[in-house]
Amino acid sequence: MAGFLKDTNTFTNVIAIDFGTGASGYGISPKPIENHTLRVDVYNPCEGENEDQKTTTAILFDNNQNFIDFGLNAERKYAEIIQDGSTALLFKNYKMSLYHMQSEVKSLDGRTMSLMKVISESLKFISKKAIKKLEDQLSKTIFKKDRIRWILTVPALWKEEHKIFMKKVAVQAGIIDNIDSNKLLLCLEPEGASICCREDADETLKKDLIKNKIVAVLDCGGGTVDITVHKLLSEPNEPFLCEEVISSSGGCEWGSKYVDSNFEEFLKDFFGDELYMIYQKNAVIRLDILKHFELLKKKFNIGERSRLQLSYFSEFLTQEKLSELIKIYNEKHKDFQLKQRGSSAIDLPENLMKSFFEPLFEKIISKVNELLIETKKKTNQFPNFIFMVGGFSESPFLKSTIKKSFENKNLRIVIPKRPSVCVIRGACMFGISPRSIQSRIAKKTYGINTLSTFEIGKHPENKKVIIEGEAFCNDLFDVFVRKNESVNIDEEFTKTYCPVRANQTEMKIILYCTDKTDVQFVDENGVRKLGELTVEIGKKHQSMEEKTVTVSLKFGFTNIIAQAMSKNTNDFKKCEFKFENSNLIENNNINNNK
Ligand SMILES: Nc1ncnc2c1ncn2[C@@H]1O[C@H](COP(=O)(O)OP(=O)(O)OP(=O)(O)O)[C@@H](O)[C@H]1O
Ligand SMILES: [Mg+2]
Repeated sequence: MAGFLKDTNTFTNVIAIDFGTGASGYGISPKPIENHTLRVDVYNPCEGENEDQKTTTAILFDNNQNFIDFGLNAERKYAEIIQDGSTALLFKNYKMSLYHMQSEVKSLDGRTMSLMKVISESLKFISKKAIKKLEDQLSKTIFKKDRIRWILTVPALWKEEHKIFMKKVAVQAGIIDNIDSNKLLLCLEPEGASICCREDADETLKKDLIKNKIVAVLDCGGGTVDITVHKLLSEPNEPFLCEEVISSSGGCEWGSKYVDSNFEEFLKDFFGDELYMIYQKNAVIRLDILKHFELLKKKFNIGERSRLQLSYFSEFLTQEKLSELIKIYNEKHKDFQLKQRGSSAIDLPENLMKSFFEPLFEKIISKVNELLIETKKKTNQFPNFIFMVGGFSESPFLKSTIKKSFENKNLRIVIPKRPSVCVIRGACMFGISPRSIQSRIAKKTYGINTLSTFEIGKHPENKKVIIEGEAFCNDLFDVFVRKNESVNIDEEFTKTYCPVRANQTEMKIILYCTDKTDVQFVDENGVRKLGELTVEIGKKHQSMEEKTVTVSLKFGFTNIIAQAMSKNTNDFKKCEFKFENSNLIENNNINNNK
């Protein structure tokens, strides 16, 4: 049977990989020896590229789908290949394809490749770099690859299916050898950030982070904005301990990349069909313009000038053509007046720049408001701190908007020094002490399908089935844990079931979830199948009492573990979660770890 947080003493180093929508990096942390302080180092997988501690999440393959490079180097090499008149497959933003459960991803020039391969090659590249770095740091005699505890960060908003997919990717990437390996833990991104914010806080802040204070963490990244609310269970001088107050939430499409998407929507309108087609077809022009916009986006705030350079089009966009496009645009949009600067640049008016951010801000603000109220309802107090982490939190415009909307004398907005590496640092810290998040709030109601003796008046007639002369009520949703219940990290929910037919030799258990807190049947609206498993329960002639099955579920860790064991055969099965609408996971076999 696969261990659950066992072997805590056997690892010597934690390596945490933060595979982000926009940027990726890794951290290394040696297991601290008693009384030694924790050390976490964060590295850019493309060493030497610049000062950044993460690199752009981009991967390049040749036309035969062979890996060429990752990160900023992938983008650079792609530009060279295109300039040489050749082609290659460059992928960006592919973490979002996983969120959408797409099995294939589109390259910049519109060709497709398997998402599993694209992500696993990315993780393979990063993990190899991390191993090499650790090998260089330790002497060859000390370094042992199997003494690494790997951490992969995942958005808290992801479903179980996404998490299982990432574990499969880790197997494919050669990080672990099976998906149940206890050498890999998943760290929820805002949870990592929460740990890091407390641990890295300066002394004055730290002394305010006392037991029972409530801390909301806003992880504003490239793709997602993940929000977690924690209550501190430890004093500043004690090891970090907290519990989740309300289930993590946020939005998968609220991150900084969507400022870029809104900007591209503007370009589409401004360029018109012909020039926009050129923009889309010429990947290098597009990359250059987006890179230039990235600079404008990063520094944008009220009162800041935003001059967009369009010289990347060279002969495709003459000065006259640009003037004509500006004229057409300005006539169409009286509120957003563009100004030409020189032969190939335009000034984007402040209200236009604002319009790229504001739809995202509205969603973030309304969610934070909702969470503040929910926290107050549940704990009778509002959060005391909002920590803003993730690259998007570096945006002066986002910072000032959040401060303006929420800061008051009882609620402080804190932005750590390096918000974009908080998740990696915290993931390493989580790897060292995975129990620091003591309990989590169940995101959904979980249970399995059962039958029970039919009771007239209690059960509806249409659910009545007769089996071997006895009346049963079919399709009952037997709840293990209800949505919003607090579940301790090690809490295990177990129930024992008997077969209904005398000669039954196996039992099929189907795991369901729903957003409802009250649910009676598995075929009600809003109930979703998560996965299933079948257990051998014995021989036909054996008594029903001998053929019982114990089903156990654990919800308190970063991913759900569901398993069943037959009393008689000792047949043990783990439940694998399936994707609802996709063929993303090709192999849906139920694992058998006897
Ligand atoms: N000053 C800034 N203003 C706006 N956006 C910024 C700024 N600095 C960085 N970003 C954006 O932050 C993103 C990278 O942040 P981060 O590394 O936290 O995201 P990620 O981990 O890749 O995304 P996710 O966590 O959603 O998967 C990029 O999209 C980048 O454009
Ligand atoms: Mg991130």
